[in-house]
Amino acid sequence: MDLVARAIISSFMTKKGLRKNIFFISVFEGPPNPPLVFMIDGTKFESYSLISEKDVGEIILKALKGESQNGVFIQKENFRNIVNFFLQRLKRNQIVYLHEKGVDIRRIPISRLRDSKVFILGDHKGIDKKDERWLVTKEISMVSIGPISYLSSHSITIVLEEIFRAQENL
Ligand SMILES: C[S@@+](CC[C@H](N)C(=O)[O-])C[C@H]1O[C@@H](n2cnc3c(N)ncnc32)[C@H](O)[C@@H]1O
Repeated sequence: MDLVARAIISSFMTKKGLRKNIFFISVFEGPPNPPLVFMIDGTKFESYSLISEKDVGEIILKALKGESQNGVFIQKENFRNIVNFFLQRLKRNQIVYLHEKGVDIRRIPISRLRDSKVFILGDHKGIDKKDERWLVTKEISMVSIGPISYLSSHSITIVLEEIFRAQENL
C-alpha cells in the first residue's frame, strides 16, 4: 500500500496543485480478494490533501470499503484485461513497459514519446514474469530511464520529466 501511495503522490502532486491529465491504475494482486483494480481519474479527482502517504492510504481504504469518492474507482479486473483494453483503443507504440533493460528513453523519437499514453510499471519485485513474457508477445516495447533500478514512484517522476522535456522541446 505504501508503494502505491508514493506512486499516486508522484503521479498527481505538483507544486501548483494536482495534475489533471493523469489516469492512475493500480492492480492489487494480494489477498483477500485479488485481482482488484484501483483507479484515479485526474479530471474528476478532488482531493486537496494528497500530501502524505497516510492521506493517500485513507483514500485507498475508503475505496476498498466501497465508499464513494470523486474520481476514485475500484473494480474486479486483472492486469491483462486492463492492458488489452488499451491495446484495443490505442496504437501499440503508445503503450510502454518501463524496465531498466529496455531501450533508453532518450533514444526514442521525441514525437513518439509525446504520443505515448500508457506507462506500465512493476512494484518492488517488478512485474510477474509470466505477465512480462505476455507483454513481449503483445509487442509492447520495453523502455528504460537508465541502468539503475529506481523505485516505482521515482520512475514515475523521471518519466513525467522526460515527457515534459519532449513536449516543451527542452
Ligand atoms: C524497484 S523497480 C523493480 C525492480 C525489480 N527487481 C525488477 O527486476 O523489475 C520498480 C519498477 O520501476 C520501474 N523501473 C525502475 N527502474 C527503472 C529503469 N531504470 N528504467 C525503467 N523502469 C524502471 C519498473 O517498471 C520496475 O518494475
